[in-house]
Amino acid sequence: MRTLNSINQNVEDAYVKREALLKMPILVLPEQKLANQYVGYFERTGESKSLFEKAKRYFPDGIQHHNTYVSPYPIFIKGGCVSKVFDVEGNTYLDFTMGAGAQLFGYASEHYEQVWQTLATDRFSLFHHPEELELAEKVNAFMPLVESIKFFQSGTEAVKAAIRLARAYQKRDLVVKISGSYHGWMSPTIRDIRQPGVGDLYMSGVPKAEANLCLTVPANDLSALQKTIRKRSRKIAAVIVELPGPESGRIPIYPDFVHEIQRLCRKHKILFILDEVVTGFRLAKGGAQAVYDLQPDLTILGKVLGGGTSLSAVGGPRDFIQYFSRNVTQTIRGRAVFVGGTMAANRVSTMMGLATLQAIEENDPYNTLDQKAQKMVDRLNSLFDSAGFPFFAYHFGSIVQIELVAWPSKFSWSRIFDFQKRLSSVHQYQLFLQSQGILSLSGTRFFLSTAHTDEDLNHLINAYRKLLELIPTK
Ligand SMILES: Cc1ncc(COP(=O)(O)O)c(C=O)c1O
Repeated sequence: MRTLNSINQNVEDAYVKREALLKMPILVLPEQKLANQYVGYFERTGESKSLFEKAKRYFPDGIQHHNTYVSPYPIFIKGGCVSKVFDVEGNTYLDFTMGAGAQLFGYASEHYEQVWQTLATDRFSLFHHPEELELAEKVNAFMPLVESIKFFQSGTEAVKAAIRLARAYQKRDLVVKISGSYHGWMSPTIRDIRQPGVGDLYMSGVPKAEANLCLTVPANDLSALQKTIRKRSRKIAAVIVELPGPESGRIPIYPDFVHEIQRLCRKHKILFILDEVVTGFRLAKGGAQAVYDLQPDLTILGKVLGGGTSLSAVGGPRDFIQYFSRNVTQTIRGRAVFVGGTMAANRVSTMMGLATLQAIEENDPYNTLDQKAQKMVDRLNSLFDSAGFPFFAYHFGSIVQIELVAWPSKFSWSRIFDFQKRLSSVHQYQLFLQSQGILSLSGTRFFLSTAHTDEDLNHLINAYRKLLELIPTK
């Protein structure tokens, strides 16, 4: 497991490199050269294009997930095996989206064989099955602070439930988050997502009074944090944080900063919520809280928890989680929080989750994942250096960020054209990689799984080498 000093260094390096990249003009790939590159790609993916045209009739923008869209059309995927996915025409792609981080063992992993067999013969029962209990025991064994657990289906839903619990318990309404962080699409944390400074851009449909219940603090800004907490300490129910920083560490935060958040929360009797939707069972068996040595009041889990199926959870000490109770006395005191769901703890997802945690226990994959990520980052950085570009890659465990276009620390409308140019460059790079058979999340985020091989890494490096050759140097 990484030490806090090495994480600190990692964060420091990322910010230094980002500053250098920001000083450079945005590099745009020449359209003419790209057109030649894309001929074969467009020919082999014609079926995806037709399906996308059809999808536009049924889905807004023709898609179901914002982050997976790649212009001019996304690839329609039919299946996956190990580190690869196959599109509807049988083309193979090396996949680094890994279900937006949910797949720790790649696709069609042998670890799930037993689940498929059981489900084929044993029909589903929805409520009160042993697997939900076994999964809770396993989560508790991995994360001792998660003594008690309430299952949901999506990360968004679990965040919403945790915040409601914090508010009911505290009898306070305000929530603090780090600017730019995404904790799901429900209010109030939808404020200031993705790019710090966008404020209420994505808050249509959220009443102003509700929007104002979310306060934001820039990443690593200790004085803003202290000021915000001191000023409203008696009204703040909770601070919610994602490690290694907003957007899976695209905006990295220093370990000291998150420890200061925890310290201030304790001091002012504010609940400290750790959003481990991405990091839970991905960064380490015990999640980011084990790596960073934190003791959150509430932990939010998702993604890997369900082995790539829809499962999420809020966990914590029994004293807190018990407020998700149907107990009438608690309800009358105004503390019990009504949550639930027909599909919460559904058997398919809990079985998948249990198989995932068992595979983690048997294989302890984290050192290997960390080494793979380090190798990937080292090879990419030496490629960028030797080609003379200030691009850079860095990683937190199996989450790799590759930056060819840096983002200013704060969005502003006066620099909207600069932002748009950066965005279209990212899209250009992402499409080029896709044409080389490589999928990433939003063009910058790469999730590794135990299924990724050295050969896959060579494929990625070659694709980046080709991309660099296309970039005009003057
Ligand atoms: C840190 C974090 N929290 C919450 C969520 C929301 O999870 P879901 O997409 O399952 O609703 C996400 C989604 O990517 C996330 O990255």
